[in-house]
Parts: sequence; structure tokens; C-alpha cells
Amino acid sequence: MADGRFYLTTPIYYVNADPHIGHAYTTIMADIIARHHRQLGEDVFFLTGTDEHGAKIATSAEREGRTPREQADMLSARFRALGGVLDATNDFFIRTTDAEHEAEVQSVLSALHDSGDIYKGSYGGWYCAASEAFYPEPELLPGRLCPVHKTPVEWVEEENWFFRLSAYRERLLAHYDANPGWVLPQARFNEARRMIELGLEDLSVSRAQVEWGVPVPWDPEQTIYVWIDALLNYRTALGYARPGEDMVERYWPPDLQLMAKDILKFHAVIWPAMLMAAGLELPRRLMIHGYVLKGGEKMSKTTGNVVDPFPFIERYGIDALRYYLAREVRFGEDGTFTAEGFDARYSGELANELGNLLNRVVSMIGRYRGGVVPADPGGDADVAADVAAAAEGCAANFAALDLSRGVEDVWRLVQRLNRLVEQRAPWTLAKDPARAGELDQTLFSLAEGLRAAAIMLWPVIPGSAERILASLGQDPAATALAGAAWGAGAAEATVSLADQLFPRVEEEAA
Ligand code: MSP
Repeated sequence: MADGRFYLTTPIYYVNADPHIGHAYTTIMADIIARHHRQLGEDVFFLTGTDEHGAKIATSAEREGRTPREQADMLSARFRALGGVLDATNDFFIRTTDAEHEAEVQSVLSALHDSGDIYKGSYGGWYCAASEAFYPEPELLPGRLCPVHKTPVEWVEEENWFFRLSAYRERLLAHYDANPGWVLPQARFNEARRMIELGLEDLSVSRAQVEWGVPVPWDPEQTIYVWIDALLNYRTALGYARPGEDMVERYWPPDLQLMAKDILKFHAVIWPAMLMAAGLELPRRLMIHGYVLKGGEKMSKTTGNVVDPFPFIERYGIDALRYYLAREVRFGEDGTFTAEGFDARYSGELANELGNLLNRVVSMIGRYRGGVVPADPGGDADVAADVAAAAEGCAANFAALDLSRGVEDVWRLVQRLNRLVEQRAPWTLAKDPARAGELDQTLFSLAEGLRAAAIMLWPVIPGSAERILASLGQDPAATALAGAAWGAGAAEATVSLADQLFPRVEEEAA
């Protein structure tokens, strides 16, 4: 962003079940974006965490014979561990059971109560616990099933505290009209705007029958509706993520909030209205990505078609999963996860194109030039131009949140470098001492092009990119995007081959 800082969030994940590839997807995309902004030199704050209150968690805990707190502790730890395995560089991991978060949620709610935005009323409606949401009758599937989970809804009726959501209709519409790109992609913007236009009902923001939650400060018989508690995490985290430092001033509002389309209404309708009511600035952009599908359906615990990311990562390495998801699932659209597709991209692209290129470049420099990259003789303006075009294309696509295209831009450069090896045939040049200059040029261009590609790919495959840089004798920490400029690397570096990048993965023993 223009002001040099970038605050980015993922949804906070429910602790009712183990994380799956769908959750990993959002965290990985967020991490790619966070790393990209860091390599542009921005002051990034990247937040993720877990959503731990409400009936959904309490019920799942009961089913497992645990207390809600035991369940939350255990599953939150699994999500946190997943972040580590994904190489996610989140700056904080929030839990909605953090005492600091709970206290701040209460104080925001009290302020809304004091300003007259919250009143007492009674409500009856069809409730889906898996969504933690009421659905109007016409939205239900035949047989009174939740439109998202396809499971039966139940009639819930009670006296609750209500937020005057309906009063924000005009202001929300005005915000949409004044900020055309604030929800991406456009179809989701239109969808959210339509929900507002069709009219908004006031929102019940407390529960009389749910014990596992944050008490309503002025009516402790009730707990705060879990979505209100959860949405506020984006704000409360800044107050205590770094002890002794209040980061609200530095990072609010979020520059980008990521999520899938299942929670569009909460983020694009309710959340901005809450912020307006609290007198807080709205996020600058919401990016609504598609679903990772498995067998034609959204991967989800409820559907039961989940893929456990941990064994995959153990087998192929985390960068393979990051790369696969970034390329396979066009950001903003649905994409299908298949083991075959994964394997094909792993061996066809990562191993054969990128891994092999590194091998060849390093071993040719070893064989023909004693392991030292020749100084640039200055004759490969077209390769230099291709590197510049890849860097520009990649940065432009990342800025437009078209991550898949951004990776494709760099991949074309990788393929171009592979072709360069074939066209120049260094093994032939090496036989003719009169062509030593050409050989120097070729080896320099290959090493330089690959170094630049590694920097551009760093947000997507960080560990592998760092290994490529180290193999090329470059500082693996030199990942700033400006360093992808032609000739910006350390000159006459000494190359060395570490372990194989993306080694062949043996078929699993039956
Ligand atoms: N706890 C709420 C969010 C509160 S945010 C204030 C919630 N949690 S969740 O565990 O169900 O996670 C939902 C998010 O996980 C989705 O919005 C999406 O980011 C990610 N995904 C879960 N399954 C997914 C797919 N199959 N595909 C893509 N993203 C998926 O909703």
C-alpha cells in the first residue's frame, strides 16, 4: 500500500475438527502475499488464528468427551502447528479465548450498547450450528437443510440482544458505491451489494443458551454471538500481539482480508456495519477466494472429503504444496485437488524444469569454469529483457491478486532458461577454445536468470528459493524483489550443489 505498511488477515479457523488442505490453502495464499509485500520492502503484519467459542465448538467437544477448553487447546495447537509446517510467516496467532481479546470484545460491545446500536428483542429462526447462522426460510434447501452444509437446521427462538444492522443499509450502499474495488472479485462485490440492497434484518448478537462464549458485559446470563466475537479478532489482536506496543495506530485498517465465499456476508455486510457503528475505519480490500474442491465438492469436514495436509507435506515437501495450490487453483475461482495433478506438477514442473535447471547450471559451471560464475561479458540483452519482463509481470499480477498468473510469468522465465541451455549447448562451446567468450556469456546468463527467478519465486517456494540462491553462491537472505534486477547479484560467485531440489518421490509402499 501507498503508506508503506501492509496489514493482512486470514479468517480464524474453527477448532471443531482437524485442519485440512482447504484451511492450508487460505493460509498459504496469505503467506505468499505477505512475503511478496515484505520483498517489496513494506512493513507487513500478517495475522491468523483460531475461532474457539460458540455452540459448534461446544457440541464437537462434547461428542469427543472433552471440555470446550480442552478441545480448543488441542485443536488450536494443531492449527498453529499447521502454520509452522506451511512455513507461514504470520506475525501473530490469535485465539479468541485469549483474555485480552475477550476483554476488548466486551468493551466494543458495551460501547455499541451505550451508543444505542444494541437493543433487546426476541427472535425465532432456522439455525444451522455448523454455520453458526440463521437462514431465512426461502434460502433453505428442500427438507429444511442448510444451504451450505446440507444438514438439518433447527428452530431457535429466544430473547436476545440485537444489533441495528438495518440502520446501516444506506451507509453500506454508499460505501460500496464509493469504493468499487473493495470486495474482489467483482462478482462477490455485486453479490454482497445485492444482499444489502435487498434489505437487512437486525442481527441477534447474543445467545441465551450458549454457555461457551464471552459473557455480555451488562447481561452475563447471555454470551456474545460467536461471529461478533470472531470478527473483532482483526482489531483486538493489534492491541496485544506485541506486549508493550499498541499497533492499532501503525496497522489499522487491514489492507487485505482473505477468505472463501462461504463467509462473504459476515465480512462484506456485518463486519463493515459493526465498524461503522464503532466509528472505526473499514478494511481497504476483501479478497474472496474460491473453494478447493475434492471430488467436485468443497473440501470440508461436514462433507467428509478432506485431505490431511501433514502426510502430503512430509512426502513432497511444503514448497510443492504451496506451488501446486498457487498454480492449480486460480485465485478467486474454485479449483480441484487431485493426487495425480499434484504429482504431475511436482515431477513435470518442479523436478524436471526447476530442479533440473539448477542441477545443470551448477554442474556446468563446475565442469567448465571451476565452479565460479563468469563475470558478465554483457552480450545477452534479450535474456536480461526477459528477466525484467518476468519481474514486472509477476509484480503486476501479484498486485492485482492474480497469484496464479504471477507464478506463470516466472515459470515462463524458467522454461526460457531451459531452452537457452539447449540452444547454446555449452557442452559443444566447451570443446572450442575460440568460443570461450560465448560459453562465459551463457553460463553467466543462466546463473543470473536463475538467481532472479529464485527471488521472484521466493514468496511461493521460500525454502527452495533460498536453496537455489545458496547453490548459486548468493546470499539466501537476499530476497528483496529489487535484487531480481539483471546484474544485481554478487559477481563471480562460487556455486555448489546441495541436495537435489525436488527429488523423485518413491511410490508409497502398499
Ligand atoms: N471461524 C469462521 C471464520 C471466522 S473469521 C472472523 C470459519 N472458520 S472455518 O474453519 O470454517 O474456516 C473457514 C475458512 O477456511 C474459509 O473462509 C476459507 O478461508 C478456508 N477454507 C475452509 N475450507 C476451504 C476449502 N475447501 N477451500 C478453500 N478455502 C477453505 O468460517
